[in-house]
Amino acid sequence: MRRTPALRGLIRETTLEPRQLIAPLFVKEGIDAAVPVASMPGQFQHTLESLRKTAVDIAGRGVTAFMLFGIPARKDAEGSEAWNPDGIGQRAIRALREEFGEDAVIMSDLCLDEYTDHGHCGVVGTDGAVINDETLERYTRIARAQAGAGAHMVGPSGMMDGQVEAIRTALDGEGHIETGIIAYAAKFASAFYGPFREAAEGAPKFGDRTGYQQDPANADEALREIRADIAEGADIVMVKPALPYLDVIRRAKDETGFPMAAYHVSGEYAMIKAASANGWIDERRAVLEVLTSIRRAGADLILTYHAADAATWLAER
Ligand code: PBG
Repeated sequence: MRRTPALRGLIRETTLEPRQLIAPLFVKEGIDAAVPVASMPGQFQHTLESLRKTAVDIAGRGVTAFMLFGIPARKDAEGSEAWNPDGIGQRAIRALREEFGEDAVIMSDLCLDEYTDHGHCGVVGTDGAVINDETLERYTRIARAQAGAGAHMVGPSGMMDGQVEAIRTALDGEGHIETGIIAYAAKFASAFYGPFREAAEGAPKFGDRTGYQQDPANADEALREIRADIAEGADIVMVKPALPYLDVIRRAKDETGFPMAAYHVSGEYAMIKAASANGWIDERRAVLEVLTSIRRAGADLILTYHAADAATWLAER
């Protein structure tokens, strides 16, 4: 059954299609041309204009879901630009809604690390620790601003306790009853976010995120986090990063049957890019193998910086 492509095609178990991919995109305020991200070759901090062009190009390849990250010109201790109705994140959402209407799904990362001057995902107390419930209140402001700008789904990524419920309640209270939540439910404290922190300019200025992101050793706890987010009103739950946590994806899919996303993160992208740039691995084969394995583990959807290339390669296959 392995001898020819036609035979192999008959018994192939796992599908990989552009519609299963979500492209993360960065947009930065106050630049007049797209800025390449050094540690993520092929990725850019976009202007509103280049964001629109890139999204149109990606959609043309069959990937019609986007996760947006805004990088403001002005940061403060509270991260107040995150809920500014005219802040860069909201302008990006509006630009893509104008471009696509209902023909694409516009998702927005909902967090504070890109917006705070200290780089943490929430309000920080005098002891340097993030204050959970004060942070939730800020998240509800961001949720209303993003939904108001037209986001189809918001993606809380700060790993605060109760964030999905707080956001659901805030959205419903303002009539945004159709706005969905794609919850970064099991997000591990990972070394693989390194390049993203350059791209989104959100590296913590002191300490790290181990006080709120998950211990990589814990799978049972990941399942509790995922169940909690489902109970609080998540529409899609996410595991992040992807490859080091394929077991968590599989367990979550088996035990909940819920729509599952996996985030193939910046460091996972950078590893493939670096090795292929050196001629050590074949980029196209490596990317399609990795994305297929994430699907095989049980992810319905994959957030990946390879989305545009992968869609093109899939069409050629
Ligand atoms: C937080 C956020 C992070 C990523 C997505 N949302 C960074 C972090 O938690 O430090 C990482 C994504 C990636 O590495 O590709 N807003």
